[in-house]
Amino acid sequence: MMSKTAALAALAISLLFASSCTTGIRQKASAPVSTAALYHRLAMTPPIGWNSWNVFQGNIDEEKLQCVADALVASGMRDAGYEYLILDDGWMADQRDSAGNLVADPAKFPSGMKALADYVHARGLKFGIYEDRGHSTCMKLPGSFQHEQQDMNTFAAWGVDYLKLDSCYAEINGRLSTDDYAVYRDCIIRTGRPMILSLANYTDPSWAWGGGQIGHLWRTSYDIGASMGSVYYCADTTAGDIVIHPAFNGLWQFAGPGRWNDPDMLQVGNLKSSRQNRTHFALWCILAAPLMAGNDLSSMTDSVRDVLVAEEVIKIDQDPRGIQGCKVYDDGDHEVYNKPLSDGTTAVLLLNKGADNADLTVSWDQIGLKGPQTVRDLWQRKNLGVYRDRFTVRDLSQDDHRLLKIGTPGRRPLPLPKAVAPAKYMVTRKGKTYVSDLYYVWRSGQDAPRYDSNFEGRPIVLSGTPYPRGLGFKGRCLAMFKLNGKAHRFRAVIGLDHASQGDESCRFKLRNLDPIGPTSLLFDSGTMTRDTAPKPVDLDVTGIDCLILECESKNALGNWADAHVVAD
Ligand code: GLA
Repeated sequence: MMSKTAALAALAISLLFASSCTTGIRQKASAPVSTAALYHRLAMTPPIGWNSWNVFQGNIDEEKLQCVADALVASGMRDAGYEYLILDDGWMADQRDSAGNLVADPAKFPSGMKALADYVHARGLKFGIYEDRGHSTCMKLPGSFQHEQQDMNTFAAWGVDYLKLDSCYAEINGRLSTDDYAVYRDCIIRTGRPMILSLANYTDPSWAWGGGQIGHLWRTSYDIGASMGSVYYCADTTAGDIVIHPAFNGLWQFAGPGRWNDPDMLQVGNLKSSRQNRTHFALWCILAAPLMAGNDLSSMTDSVRDVLVAEEVIKIDQDPRGIQGCKVYDDGDHEVYNKPLSDGTTAVLLLNKGADNADLTVSWDQIGLKGPQTVRDLWQRKNLGVYRDRFTVRDLSQDDHRLLKIGTPGRRPLPLPKAVAPAKYMVTRKGKTYVSDLYYVWRSGQDAPRYDSNFEGRPIVLSGTPYPRGLGFKGRCLAMFKLNGKAHRFRAVIGLDHASQGDESCRFKLRNLDPIGPTSLLFDSGTMTRDTAPKPVDLDVTGIDCLILECESKNALGNWADAHVVAD
């Protein structure tokens, strides 16, 4: 279903890439577009394909992968748009060759990677591969650290079109994630081969530090499992407030053509029922998520196939306007998502996660429409009728949904939802900015920090001194604030809240961008208890884009009193 226009655009991009690079980076006079600019146009809609990890893990070999390539064609998935066949971890030999080159595991891939890439390309598909930016992959096979250009050259020579670059063991590389991934981007561009770069940095916030200038998609969640609990959790990393301040209503404002939030690969076909498979797929499509099938294509039932190739559903994901749908309603069990489309209509998902059957309604004022509207069911491929100001679906059972297209094609595209303004989440002005003036752009740990109070909502008081401004943490908590390279000092008074138990302790840390690893550590208070006197912190943060405030603790209430930055 990849439209002819999309296919032609992809071809044009790859030809331009080739023509600008075979001549050694110089552009042709008639194509004044730089290789780098072309690189950033490689994923104007969310990448779509199949990846080996969810179903096979490291248990892959040449024959299996050839069967997958054949099945992508025979099942109609290729024609439905599935473009990439991606080999995940476990493909390489455990040693490089004597020249330091990566080699395919000779037992699993006796014909080598180039032969497999050729096999895949011959079937009209593109070829993707997995590597890691640490010294080893997650399966402890050779990683690319200190072999960056060499490995990208190898991949280019093999005909790789897509690189999933993981982050196991990368914290000891001595480079921040942003610098590290930028090295790979530059190495890829230098090869002259168009290759999509997928940032697999777990939940670490690539969206906050400009992942879109570096790669084409980035993970927002830990690994997805084959259960609806995991599916909903992963979806909520990109659509909810699991990793970002609730004011953002998910990560939608950081995604768009060329840069996508990736809640991980599909488990369609691995879930318990066709209802679950459809709901998972519809959820990924409304979120404009990359669609990487992760099921065994050789044993796929017709019902699973029908989900994966549903033309009108895939079209929602691949809509060229590239807006990630966001929630317009969420009461915990019932959710309504809205995704304005390029043709002037909008896609709406009504979802029941709760145990009880429920009626769910979308009203036009929630989605920016007025007056009677045509409603189309995208799974049934049928217009349901014209509705005055709302649409209700009755008796939706657990994990069931309706995916609708509402409105008349050909009208002016509907407005975007309201994005959070930069001044609300980054340092934009001179002088003093309280950290609690800014929405955090990422968080990790059990509980979100409390603003301008201790974690229990009471005023921050340290050694008898009250502080009207600051943040209250509980237990292990990390929160990232975007200084945007504008601030030069960070100041705060740190200490345990008097409501902490006597035997509890906390280590306050400040980090530059990355939540783990020695490279990012800027400040470490050492262990503090309720009896430790509060400590003033006054730190040079010049040039820092993203600052992480961390409390390493089991249960203590840690206060960052008066936390603020100063900008010139
Ligand atoms: C990590 C990634 C997975 C997969 C495995 C391979 O866990 O998040 O998607 O690539 O590594 O080892």
